[in-house]
Amino acid sequence: MPRFLINKGTPLRGRIRASGAKNSVLPIIAASLLTDGKSTIEEIPCLNDVRTMCELIECLGARVRLEEGQNRLIIDSGNITNTVAPYELVNKMRASFLVMGPLLARQGMAKISLPGGCAIGNRPVDLHLKGFAAMGADIVQGHGYIIAKTRGRLRGSRIYLDFPSVGATENILMAAVLAEGQTIIENAAIEPEIVDLTTFLTSMGADIKGAGTDTIRINGVKELKGVTHAVIPDRIEAGTFMVATAISGGDVIIENVVPDHLKPVSAKLREAGVEISEELTSIHVRAGKPLKAVDIKTHPYPGFPTDMQSQMAALLSVASGTSILIETVFDNRFMYISELKRMGAKIKVEGRSAVIEGTDKLMGATVRATDLRAGAALVLAGLVAEGTTEITDIEHIDRGYMNFDEKLRKLGADIVRVED
Ligand code: UD1
Repeated sequence: MPRFLINKGTPLRGRIRASGAKNSVLPIIAASLLTDGKSTIEEIPCLNDVRTMCELIECLGARVRLEEGQNRLIIDSGNITNTVAPYELVNKMRASFLVMGPLLARQGMAKISLPGGCAIGNRPVDLHLKGFAAMGADIVQGHGYIIAKTRGRLRGSRIYLDFPSVGATENILMAAVLAEGQTIIENAAIEPEIVDLTTFLTSMGADIKGAGTDTIRINGVKELKGVTHAVIPDRIEAGTFMVATAISGGDVIIENVVPDHLKPVSAKLREAGVEISEELTSIHVRAGKPLKAVDIKTHPYPGFPTDMQSQMAALLSVASGTSILIETVFDNRFMYISELKRMGAKIKVEGRSAVIEGTDKLMGATVRATDLRAGAALVLAGLVAEGTTEITDIEHIDRGYMNFDEKLRKLGADIVRVED
Protein backbone atom coordinates (compact mmCIF):
# COMPACT_ATOMS: atom_id res chain seq x y z
CA MET A 1 0.00 0.00 0.00
CA PRO A 2 1.36 3.48 -0.79
CA ARG A 3 2.60 5.65 2.09
CA PHE A 4 3.96 9.16 2.52
CA LEU A 5 7.31 9.75 4.17
CA ILE A 6 7.75 13.33 5.36
CA ASN A 7 10.81 14.91 6.93
CA LYS A 8 10.70 18.16 8.83
CA GLY A 9 11.58 20.77 6.25
CA THR A 10 12.03 24.45 5.60
CA PRO A 11 9.09 26.90 5.43
CA LEU A 12 6.96 26.44 2.30
CA ARG A 13 7.57 29.07 -0.39
CA GLY A 14 6.27 29.76 -3.88
CA ARG A 15 3.00 29.65 -5.80
CA ILE A 16 0.44 26.91 -6.12
CA ARG A 17 -2.79 26.61 -8.09
CA ALA A 18 -5.88 25.10 -6.49
CA SER A 19 -7.72 22.49 -8.58
CA GLY A 20 -11.44 22.42 -9.33
CA ALA A 21 -13.69 21.60 -6.38
CA LYS A 22 -14.22 17.90 -5.66
CA ASN A 23 -17.48 18.67 -3.85
CA SER A 24 -18.80 20.58 -6.88
CA VAL A 25 -17.80 18.12 -9.52
CA LEU A 26 -19.39 15.08 -7.86
CA PRO A 27 -22.99 16.43 -7.84
CA ILE A 28 -22.43 17.96 -11.28
CA ILE A 29 -21.49 14.54 -12.70
CA ALA A 30 -24.67 13.15 -11.12
CA ALA A 31 -26.66 16.05 -12.63
CA SER A 32 -25.39 15.16 -16.11
CA LEU A 33 -27.78 12.18 -15.89
CA LEU A 34 -30.67 14.65 -16.18
CA THR A 35 -30.15 15.25 -19.90
CA ASP A 36 -29.91 12.94 -22.87
CA GLY A 37 -27.47 15.47 -24.36
CA LYS A 38 -23.73 15.69 -23.94
CA SER A 39 -22.20 17.47 -20.91
CA THR A 40 -18.64 18.78 -20.93
CA ILE A 41 -17.23 19.53 -17.51
CA GLU A 42 -14.00 21.48 -17.25
CA GLU A 43 -11.55 22.16 -14.41
CA ILE A 44 -12.09 18.59 -13.21
CA PRO A 45 -9.77 17.51 -10.41
CA CYS A 46 -8.54 14.05 -11.50
CA LEU A 47 -9.23 12.29 -8.20
CA ASN A 48 -10.26 8.80 -7.21
CA ASP A 49 -13.67 10.10 -6.07
CA VAL A 50 -14.22 11.55 -9.55
CA ARG A 51 -13.23 8.20 -11.11
CA THR A 52 -15.66 6.40 -8.78
CA MET A 53 -18.50 8.73 -9.78
CA CYS A 54 -17.64 8.16 -13.46
CA GLU A 55 -17.64 4.39 -12.89
CA LEU A 56 -21.07 4.68 -11.29
CA ILE A 57 -22.71 6.65 -14.09
CA GLU A 58 -21.07 4.32 -16.64
CA CYS A 59 -22.68 1.40 -14.84
CA LEU A 60 -26.01 3.25 -15.26
CA GLY A 61 -25.43 3.45 -19.02
CA ALA A 62 -23.70 6.83 -19.53
CA ARG A 63 -20.66 7.05 -21.80
CA VAL A 64 -17.80 8.90 -20.14
CA ARG A 65 -14.49 10.22 -21.44
CA LEU A 66 -12.07 11.58 -18.84
CA GLU A 67 -9.38 13.69 -20.49
CA GLU A 68 -6.92 13.77 -17.62
CA GLY A 69 -4.35 16.05 -19.30
CA GLN A 70 -7.04 18.66 -20.00
CA ASN A 71 -8.85 18.14 -16.68
CA ARG A 72 -12.00 17.69 -18.75
CA LEU A 73 -14.83 15.21 -18.59
CA ILE A 74 -17.26 14.51 -21.41
CA ILE A 75 -20.44 12.67 -20.51
CA ASP A 76 -23.07 11.31 -22.88
CA SER A 77 -26.14 10.28 -20.89
CA GLY A 78 -28.24 9.56 -23.99
CA ASN A 79 -28.89 5.96 -23.05
CA ILE A 80 -29.51 5.23 -19.37
CA THR A 81 -30.05 1.47 -19.12
CA ASN A 82 -29.80 0.77 -15.41
CA THR A 83 -31.14 2.40 -12.23
CA VAL A 84 -29.18 0.46 -9.61
CA ALA A 85 -26.21 1.94 -7.71
CA PRO A 86 -24.46 -1.09 -6.20
CA TYR A 87 -22.98 -1.44 -2.72
CA GLU A 88 -19.37 -1.60 -3.96
CA LEU A 89 -19.57 1.93 -5.36
CA VAL A 90 -21.76 3.59 -2.72
CA ASN A 91 -19.62 2.05 0.01
CA LYS A 92 -16.49 3.47 -1.63
CA MET A 93 -17.93 6.95 -1.78
CA ARG A 94 -21.07 8.23 -0.07
CA ALA A 95 -21.57 10.94 -2.69
CA SER A 96 -22.75 8.09 -4.98
CA PHE A 97 -26.12 8.56 -3.28
CA LEU A 98 -26.45 11.78 -5.28
CA VAL A 99 -27.57 9.83 -8.36
CA MET A 100 -30.89 9.10 -6.66
CA GLY A 101 -32.45 12.50 -7.43
CA PRO A 102 -31.46 12.51 -11.12
CA LEU A 103 -32.50 8.85 -11.64
CA LEU A 104 -35.88 9.39 -10.01
CA ALA A 105 -36.46 12.53 -12.07
CA ARG A 106 -35.46 11.02 -15.39
CA GLN A 107 -36.17 7.29 -15.08
CA GLY A 108 -38.86 7.32 -12.38
CA MET A 109 -36.95 4.78 -10.34
CA ALA A 110 -33.71 4.32 -8.43
CA LYS A 111 -32.30 1.53 -6.29
CA ILE A 112 -29.33 2.72 -4.31
CA SER A 113 -27.33 0.87 -1.72
CA LEU A 114 -27.78 2.44 1.70
CA PRO A 115 -24.52 4.16 2.62
CA GLY A 116 -22.95 2.61 5.71
CA GLY A 117 -21.33 4.38 8.65
CA CYS A 118 -18.11 6.18 7.96
CA ALA A 119 -15.01 7.47 9.67
CA ILE A 120 -16.50 10.85 10.48
CA GLY A 121 -19.66 9.63 12.13
CA ASN A 122 -23.15 8.52 11.49
CA ARG A 123 -24.30 9.98 8.16
CA PRO A 124 -27.97 9.25 7.52
CA VAL A 125 -29.87 10.07 4.31
CA ASP A 126 -33.27 10.66 5.91
CA LEU A 127 -33.48 14.27 4.71
CA HIS A 128 -32.86 13.24 1.09
CA LEU A 129 -35.65 10.64 1.37
CA LYS A 130 -38.06 13.00 3.13
CA GLY A 131 -37.67 15.33 0.16
CA PHE A 132 -38.29 12.62 -2.46
CA ALA A 133 -41.31 11.32 -0.53
CA ALA A 134 -42.78 14.84 -0.38
CA MET A 135 -42.42 14.94 -4.18
CA GLY A 136 -44.52 11.80 -4.53
CA ALA A 137 -41.92 9.02 -4.59
CA ASP A 138 -42.73 5.68 -2.92
CA ILE A 139 -39.72 4.66 -0.89
CA VAL A 140 -38.97 1.25 0.56
CA GLN A 141 -35.89 -0.20 2.19
CA GLY A 142 -34.75 -3.78 1.94
CA HIS A 143 -31.61 -5.91 1.85
CA GLY A 144 -29.38 -2.87 2.33
CA TYR A 145 -30.93 -0.93 -0.55
CA ILE A 146 -33.31 2.00 -0.78
CA ILE A 147 -35.76 1.67 -3.64
CA ALA A 148 -37.61 4.79 -4.77
CA LYS A 149 -40.25 4.82 -7.49
CA THR A 150 -42.62 7.34 -8.90
CA ARG A 151 -45.61 7.00 -11.19
CA GLY A 152 -45.23 9.66 -13.85
CA ARG A 153 -43.26 12.79 -13.04
CA LEU A 154 -42.29 13.82 -9.52
CA ARG A 155 -44.52 16.60 -8.17
CA GLY A 156 -43.21 19.91 -6.89
CA SER A 157 -43.55 20.33 -3.13
CA ARG A 158 -42.55 22.54 -0.19
CA ILE A 159 -39.71 20.83 1.66
CA TYR A 160 -38.21 22.03 4.94
CA LEU A 161 -34.82 20.53 5.82
CA ASP A 162 -34.31 19.99 9.55
CA PHE A 163 -30.62 20.65 8.96
CA PRO A 164 -29.14 22.51 5.96
CA SER A 165 -27.60 19.32 4.54
CA VAL A 166 -25.42 19.87 1.49
CA GLY A 167 -26.16 16.46 -0.04
CA ALA A 168 -29.92 16.58 0.64
CA THR A 169 -30.18 20.08 -0.86
CA GLU A 170 -28.33 18.91 -3.99
CA ASN A 171 -30.25 15.65 -4.39
CA ILE A 172 -33.66 17.32 -3.95
CA LEU A 173 -32.65 20.18 -6.26
CA MET A 174 -31.68 17.70 -8.99
CA ALA A 175 -34.97 15.81 -8.57
CA ALA A 176 -37.00 19.03 -8.63
CA VAL A 177 -35.67 20.49 -11.88
CA LEU A 178 -37.67 17.97 -13.95
CA ALA A 179 -40.66 17.72 -11.56
CA GLU A 180 -44.14 18.97 -12.34
CA GLY A 181 -44.75 22.39 -10.77
CA GLN A 182 -42.84 24.31 -8.12
CA THR A 183 -40.58 22.93 -5.40
CA ILE A 184 -39.46 25.13 -2.52
CA ILE A 185 -36.54 23.94 -0.40
CA GLU A 186 -36.47 25.75 2.94
CA ASN A 187 -33.47 25.80 5.29
CA ALA A 188 -31.43 24.77 2.25
CA ALA A 189 -27.64 24.59 2.40
CA ILE A 190 -25.95 27.68 0.96
CA GLU A 191 -22.47 26.31 0.24
CA PRO A 192 -20.71 27.64 -2.90
CA GLU A 193 -20.92 24.11 -4.34
CA ILE A 194 -24.76 24.38 -4.29
CA VAL A 195 -24.49 27.60 -6.26
CA ASP A 196 -22.10 25.93 -8.74
CA LEU A 197 -24.50 23.01 -9.25
CA THR A 198 -27.30 25.53 -9.80
CA THR A 199 -25.22 27.39 -12.39
CA PHE A 200 -24.76 24.10 -14.26
CA LEU A 201 -28.47 23.19 -14.03
CA THR A 202 -29.61 26.67 -15.04
CA SER A 203 -27.42 26.68 -18.11
CA MET A 204 -28.97 23.28 -18.98
CA GLY A 205 -32.35 25.06 -18.97
CA ALA A 206 -33.54 24.59 -15.37
CA ASP A 207 -35.55 27.33 -13.66
CA ILE A 208 -34.01 27.88 -10.20
CA LYS A 209 -34.16 30.98 -8.00
CA GLY A 210 -32.53 31.64 -4.65
CA ALA A 211 -29.54 29.26 -4.70
CA GLY A 212 -27.02 30.57 -2.18
CA THR A 213 -29.87 31.61 0.15
CA ASP A 214 -31.76 29.34 2.53
CA THR A 215 -34.85 29.24 0.30
CA ILE A 216 -34.54 27.77 -3.17
CA ARG A 217 -37.48 27.88 -5.59
CA ILE A 218 -37.45 25.50 -8.52
CA ASN A 219 -40.02 25.51 -11.32
CA GLY A 220 -39.85 22.12 -13.01
CA VAL A 221 -39.18 22.00 -16.76
CA LYS A 222 -39.83 19.16 -19.21
CA GLU A 223 -36.27 18.62 -20.39
CA LEU A 224 -32.71 19.82 -20.04
CA LYS A 225 -29.96 20.12 -22.62
CA GLY A 226 -26.26 19.20 -22.49
CA VAL A 227 -23.87 22.11 -21.82
CA THR A 228 -20.24 22.95 -21.04
CA HIS A 229 -19.40 24.05 -17.51
CA ALA A 230 -16.20 24.78 -15.58
CA VAL A 231 -16.32 23.90 -11.87
CA ILE A 232 -15.38 26.42 -9.17
CA PRO A 233 -12.01 26.22 -7.36
CA ASP A 234 -11.67 23.86 -4.43
CA ARG A 235 -11.90 26.01 -1.29
CA ILE A 236 -10.90 23.14 0.98
CA GLU A 237 -7.79 22.28 -1.02
CA ALA A 238 -6.85 25.98 -1.03
CA GLY A 239 -7.56 26.23 2.70
CA THR A 240 -5.37 23.19 3.34
CA PHE A 241 -2.48 24.88 1.52
CA MET A 242 -3.11 28.05 3.55
CA VAL A 243 -2.75 26.07 6.77
CA ALA A 244 0.27 24.17 5.39
CA THR A 245 1.95 27.52 4.72
CA ALA A 246 1.02 28.82 8.16
CA ILE A 247 2.21 25.78 10.11
CA SER A 248 5.53 25.77 8.27
CA GLY A 249 6.07 29.53 8.81
CA GLY A 250 6.11 29.96 5.02
CA ASP A 251 5.20 32.47 2.31
CA VAL A 252 2.93 31.13 -0.46
CA ILE A 253 0.54 32.55 -3.04
CA ILE A 254 -2.42 30.29 -3.73
CA GLU A 255 -3.96 30.90 -7.13
CA ASN A 256 -7.32 29.97 -8.60
CA VAL A 257 -9.31 30.70 -5.46
CA VAL A 258 -12.43 32.69 -4.63
CA PRO A 259 -11.22 34.55 -1.50
CA ASP A 260 -14.81 35.08 -0.29
CA HIS A 261 -15.29 31.30 -0.06
CA LEU A 262 -12.36 31.17 2.38
CA LYS A 263 -13.40 34.03 4.69
CA PRO A 264 -13.71 31.93 7.87
CA VAL A 265 -10.36 30.19 7.25
CA SER A 266 -8.63 33.52 6.56
CA ALA A 267 -10.21 35.07 9.66
CA LYS A 268 -9.04 32.27 11.96
CA LEU A 269 -5.54 32.23 10.48
CA ARG A 270 -5.30 36.02 10.98
CA GLU A 271 -6.39 35.55 14.60
CA ALA A 272 -3.59 32.99 14.93
CA GLY A 273 -1.06 35.60 13.81
CA VAL A 274 -0.77 34.78 10.09
CA GLU A 275 -0.76 37.54 7.46
CA ILE A 276 -3.33 36.99 4.74
CA SER A 277 -3.86 39.25 1.75
CA GLU A 278 -6.48 38.70 -0.86
CA GLU A 279 -6.50 39.56 -4.56
CA LEU A 280 -9.35 38.87 -6.98
CA THR A 281 -8.44 35.21 -7.59
CA SER A 282 -5.51 34.54 -5.27
CA ILE A 283 -4.58 34.57 -1.59
CA HIS A 284 -1.12 35.40 -0.26
CA VAL A 285 -0.26 33.72 3.05
CA ARG A 286 2.73 34.96 5.06
CA ALA A 287 3.60 33.31 8.33
CA GLY A 288 6.70 33.40 10.45
CA LYS A 289 5.57 35.06 13.68
CA PRO A 290 4.76 32.64 16.54
CA LEU A 291 1.32 31.07 16.11
CA LYS A 292 -1.34 31.92 18.72
CA ALA A 293 -4.15 29.74 20.06
CA VAL A 294 -7.64 30.39 18.66
CA ASP A 295 -11.08 28.92 19.34
CA ILE A 296 -13.02 27.46 16.44
CA LYS A 297 -16.54 26.12 16.06
CA THR A 298 -17.54 24.43 12.80
CA HIS A 299 -20.83 25.39 11.13
CA PRO A 300 -22.52 25.04 7.76
CA TYR A 301 -21.39 27.73 5.26
CA PRO A 302 -20.60 30.59 5.76
CA GLY A 303 -19.36 29.32 9.14
CA PHE A 304 -16.02 27.63 9.63
CA PRO A 305 -16.01 24.49 7.41
CA THR A 306 -15.96 21.09 9.10
CA ASP A 307 -13.69 19.96 6.25
CA MET A 308 -10.97 22.32 7.60
CA GLN A 309 -11.35 21.27 11.23
CA SER A 310 -8.60 18.63 11.36
CA GLN A 311 -6.05 20.74 9.45
CA MET A 312 -6.59 23.57 11.98
CA ALA A 313 -6.16 21.07 14.84
CA ALA A 314 -2.70 20.24 13.46
CA LEU A 315 -1.85 23.95 13.36
CA LEU A 316 -3.20 24.68 16.84
CA SER A 317 -1.16 21.76 18.20
CA VAL A 318 1.94 23.90 17.70
CA ALA A 319 0.42 27.33 18.56
CA SER A 320 1.14 28.92 21.91
CA GLY A 321 -1.75 28.69 24.37
CA THR A 322 -4.91 26.63 24.66
CA SER A 323 -7.44 26.40 21.82
CA ILE A 324 -10.93 24.97 21.89
CA LEU A 325 -12.24 23.29 18.77
CA ILE A 326 -15.94 22.44 18.60
CA GLU A 327 -17.39 20.25 15.85
CA THR A 328 -21.11 20.84 15.32
CA VAL A 329 -21.68 19.35 11.85
CA PHE A 330 -20.64 15.70 12.28
CA ASP A 331 -20.99 13.59 15.40
CA ASN A 332 -17.62 11.83 15.38
CA ARG A 333 -15.01 13.80 13.52
CA PHE A 334 -12.16 13.52 16.03
CA MET A 335 -10.90 10.03 15.26
CA TYR A 336 -7.64 11.39 13.86
CA ILE A 337 -6.78 13.05 17.16
CA SER A 338 -5.35 9.86 18.63
CA GLU A 339 -2.98 9.81 15.62
CA LEU A 340 -1.96 13.45 16.19
CA LYS A 341 -1.38 12.60 19.86
CA ARG A 342 1.03 9.87 18.80
CA MET A 343 3.07 12.69 17.27
CA GLY A 344 3.15 14.52 20.61
CA ALA A 345 0.08 16.78 20.27
CA LYS A 346 -1.61 17.60 23.58
CA ILE A 347 -5.31 17.28 22.94
CA LYS A 348 -8.25 16.22 25.11
CA VAL A 349 -11.53 15.30 23.49
CA GLU A 350 -14.80 15.62 25.35
CA GLY A 351 -17.83 14.83 23.18
CA ARG A 352 -17.80 17.25 20.28
CA SER A 353 -15.10 19.50 21.78
CA ALA A 354 -11.34 19.20 21.65
CA VAL A 355 -9.09 21.17 23.97
CA ILE A 356 -5.70 21.68 22.34
CA GLU A 357 -2.74 22.77 24.39
CA GLY A 358 -0.04 24.03 22.07
CA THR A 359 3.35 22.41 22.28
CA ASP A 360 6.56 23.65 20.70
CA LYS A 361 7.51 20.27 19.33
CA LEU A 362 5.75 17.49 17.44
CA MET A 363 7.65 14.26 16.76
CA GLY A 364 7.62 12.16 13.62
CA ALA A 365 5.84 8.80 14.03
CA THR A 366 4.00 6.23 11.93
CA VAL A 367 0.39 7.37 11.74
CA ARG A 368 -2.70 6.32 9.83
CA ALA A 369 -4.91 8.57 7.69
CA THR A 370 -8.32 7.76 9.16
CA ASP A 371 -10.20 9.81 6.56
CA LEU A 372 -9.54 12.30 3.80
CA ARG A 373 -9.14 15.58 5.72
CA ALA A 374 -7.63 13.84 8.74
CA GLY A 375 -4.96 12.46 6.41
CA ALA A 376 -4.21 15.98 5.17
CA ALA A 377 -3.91 17.17 8.80
CA LEU A 378 -1.30 14.48 9.52
CA VAL A 379 0.70 15.56 6.45
CA LEU A 380 0.67 19.16 7.76
CA ALA A 381 1.82 17.99 11.18
CA GLY A 382 4.57 15.98 9.46
CA LEU A 383 5.90 19.16 7.83
CA VAL A 384 6.98 20.46 11.25
CA ALA A 385 7.47 17.29 13.30
CA GLU A 386 11.04 16.39 14.28
CA GLY A 387 12.41 13.52 12.21
CA THR A 388 10.36 11.39 9.83
CA THR A 389 6.60 10.97 9.75
CA GLU A 390 5.21 7.96 7.93
CA ILE A 391 1.58 8.19 6.90
CA THR A 392 -0.26 5.02 5.93
CA ASP A 393 -3.70 4.56 4.33
CA ILE A 394 -3.05 7.54 2.07
CA GLU A 395 -5.66 6.36 -0.43
CA HIS A 396 -8.01 8.48 1.70
CA ILE A 397 -5.91 11.55 0.89
CA ASP A 398 -5.83 10.66 -2.83
CA ARG A 399 -9.65 10.65 -2.84
CA GLY A 400 -9.70 14.41 -2.39
CA TYR A 401 -6.34 16.04 -3.14
CA MET A 402 -4.97 16.05 -6.66
CA ASN A 403 -1.17 15.53 -6.69
CA PHE A 404 -0.96 16.56 -3.03
CA ASP A 405 2.63 15.43 -2.50
CA GLU A 406 3.75 16.86 -5.84
CA LYS A 407 2.22 20.27 -5.06
CA LEU A 408 3.83 20.31 -1.59
CA ARG A 409 7.22 19.34 -3.06
CA LYS A 410 6.90 22.24 -5.48
CA LEU A 411 6.70 24.51 -2.42
CA GLY A 412 9.80 22.92 -0.91
CA ALA A 413 8.35 20.23 1.35
CA ASP A 414 10.35 17.06 1.92
CA ILE A 415 7.63 14.51 1.16
CA VAL A 416 7.84 11.34 -0.91
CA ARG A 417 5.30 8.74 -1.90
CA VAL A 418 6.52 5.20 -1.36
CA GLU A 419 4.70 2.47 -3.30
CA ASP A 420 5.12 -1.08 -2.07
C1 UD1 B 1 -20.85 17.36 2.14
C2 UD1 B 1 -19.41 17.29 1.66
C3 UD1 B 1 -18.49 17.02 2.83
C4 UD1 B 1 -18.71 18.06 3.93
C5 UD1 B 1 -20.19 18.16 4.30
C6 UD1 B 1 -20.48 19.28 5.28
C7 UD1 B 1 -19.65 16.46 -0.60
C8 UD1 B 1 -19.43 15.37 -1.58
N1 UD1 B 1 -19.32 16.23 0.67
O1 UD1 B 1 -21.17 16.08 2.69
O2 UD1 B 1 -17.15 17.09 2.35
O3 UD1 B 1 -17.99 17.66 5.08
O4 UD1 B 1 -20.98 18.40 3.12
O5 UD1 B 1 -20.03 20.50 4.79
O6 UD1 B 1 -20.08 17.54 -0.97
N2 UD1 B 1 -27.56 14.66 7.76
C9 UD1 B 1 -28.69 14.04 8.26
N3 UD1 B 1 -29.58 13.52 7.38
C10 UD1 B 1 -29.40 13.59 6.02
C11 UD1 B 1 -28.24 14.22 5.52
C12 UD1 B 1 -27.35 14.75 6.42
O7 UD1 B 1 -28.88 13.96 9.47
O8 UD1 B 1 -30.26 13.09 5.27
C13 UD1 B 1 -26.57 15.20 8.71
C14 UD1 B 1 -25.24 14.46 8.61
O9 UD1 B 1 -25.24 13.29 9.37
C15 UD1 B 1 -24.26 15.48 9.12
C16 UD1 B 1 -24.89 16.80 8.66
O10 UD1 B 1 -26.23 16.52 8.33
O11 UD1 B 1 -24.20 15.44 10.52
C17 UD1 B 1 -24.19 17.41 7.46
O12 UD1 B 1 -24.21 16.53 6.38
P1 UD1 B 1 -24.31 17.01 4.88
O13 UD1 B 1 -24.33 18.49 4.82
O14 UD1 B 1 -25.43 16.27 4.24
O15 UD1 B 1 -22.93 16.49 4.31
P2 UD1 B 1 -22.69 15.70 2.97
O16 UD1 B 1 -23.54 16.24 1.88
O17 UD1 B 1 -22.72 14.24 3.25
